Amino acid sequence: MTDVQAAPAPVDETDVPAVEMREISKAFDSNVVLAGVDFEVARGEVHALAGGNGAGKSTLMKILQGVYSKDSGVIRINGREVEFSSIHDAKAAGIGMVFQEFSLVPSLTVAQNIYLTTEPLSNGIFIRDREAVDKAREVFQQMEVDIDPGARVGDLGTAYWQLTEIAKAMAQDARVLIMDEPTASLAKHEADQLFELVGRLKAGGISIVYISHRMEEVYRIADRITILRDGKNLLTERLTDVTPEQIVEGIVGQQIEGMAYQERDTSAEPEILLEADGLTAGSRVQNVSFTLHRGEIIGLAGLMGSGRTELARCLFGIDKLESGEIRMHGQRIDVSDPREAIKARLALIPEDRRAQGLVLEHSVRDNLLLPLLRKIERGLLIDDGKGKELADSLIQRFAVKVANPARPVRLLSGGNQQKVVIAKWLGTEPEVLIMDEPTAGVDIGTKTEILTMIRNLAEEGKAVIVISSEYAELLAVSDRVLILRDGTVQQELARQDIADEESLQHAVQGV
Ligand SMILES: Nc1ncnc2c1ncn2[C@@H]1O[C@H](COP(=O)(O)OP(=O)(O)OP(=O)(O)O)[C@@H](O)[C@H]1O
Ligand SMILES: [Mg+2]
Repeated sequence: MTDVQAAPAPVDETDVPAVEMREISKAFDSNVVLAGVDFEVARGEVHALAGGNGAGKSTLMKILQGVYSKDSGVIRINGREVEFSSIHDAKAAGIGMVFQEFSLVPSLTVAQNIYLTTEPLSNGIFIRDREAVDKAREVFQQMEVDIDPGARVGDLGTAYWQLTEIAKAMAQDARVLIMDEPTASLAKHEADQLFELVGRLKAGGISIVYISHRMEEVYRIADRITILRDGKNLLTERLTDVTPEQIVEGIVGQQIEGMAYQERDTSAEPEILLEADGLTAGSRVQNVSFTLHRGEIIGLAGLMGSGRTELARCLFGIDKLESGEIRMHGQRIDVSDPREAIKARLALIPEDRRAQGLVLEHSVRDNLLLPLLRKIERGLLIDDGKGKELADSLIQRFAVKVANPARPVRLLSGGNQQKVVIAKWLGTEPEVLIMDEPTAGVDIGTKTEILTMIRNLAEEGKAVIVISSEYAELLAVSDRVLILRDGTVQQELARQDIADEESLQHAVQGV
């Protein structure tokens, strides 16, 4: 690609890199996950780390964090060679991690969380607490972020959890921050806040490794990008020297179709498949009514806390309805329990795949077969061979990258775990499929595959409800969008009445 000299130089590369990883290799058993990978981050640089699901990004960063040991290779921090044998060693060397599955304790305050492990012991918990609050306030002031250090973490939204995680790393004097898909659970304006913070940290000389599957984010905040493919370096470039198309092709290995909405023929007299009538449950679902037709895709849009996930949980029988009813084919159905919902041919792909979608210690195969067991058991005997065949066909159909389907699903990369959740529910052949953030964490190739899959399901005469905080994604598939706010449907918009992402965002924010 183009000459590096020609590009503007926001990064001082004559300096010794803050992080330098050379020829890093790592295998789990016989599965080689990293094969001689080079990676470096300059001081004050935001360096994006990209690649398909299972390419080795998280593994490389877990080595830098001292979670995994490398099989071979060298790590230098500010030019000095280091050997990390624990997270503690990495922390002491200034490596901080913003955990995706947050490491905070919800019942404690923000300040207590930040100083939980580093807090100097002094006499009297009262004084110590006050000190922690003062110190936390200083950290937030430096970050220019408005959070009450005395607030209980459990009372704050996810966006604040993340800011607290960052503050925690800063309080521990991190000079390098690793962010692994930090925006996966953030609303648009919260992500914007995070990007502004990243800009300030960078200006303060902090180096940031930014793992993301979202190209527009990478272009917005990163100076350089390194792409891994199958555990090897594919390229490292300044973002000024590489086009989004080149990056996507590098990640996916081929060109992909865009996310443009494809108008579908919904002119035929539509049959009503599902009706929600006055659904109420707690404060987050208040008198919600809508109809869903065969072959239709409805998008649910709303801010964090608007009740989207809670509505999905009601429909699937996880949360109990206080009033209202759900009808399928005009018949009232009992959704007092997910098993009843499955019988009525509903399926829910939950937002939090690790906690709700998978049994992490069970094998990939068993996870795939879990909702299908009834089907296989039909002949009373559980046919092992048949189950294996079915699971393997799902693995193939969804291109799940798995070395051995008999090993625990927890060992798969994040995106591949998501594929397992989707595959497992589609195996039940539902009529109505509810998908909560279906593409969170999946790579861009898989993402377009999933969106195409959603369209195909509708074509086949199924109906889909999609919850997503990514407006582009909602606009790519939805025939109608319901805007939720404070647990109620504020507005219902036909796809052709939504001009673009910005107008959808305005509708969601009610401005
Ligand atoms: N502890 C482990 N034991 C065995 N295999 C593992 C372990 N951790 C990761 N792997 C394997 O290493 C490969 C790379 O996984 P990694 O999590 O680094 O991918 P990734 O690039 O972060 O992908 P994603 O975008 O899906 O998060 C995967 O095939 C995964 O199954
Ligand atoms: Mg990962």
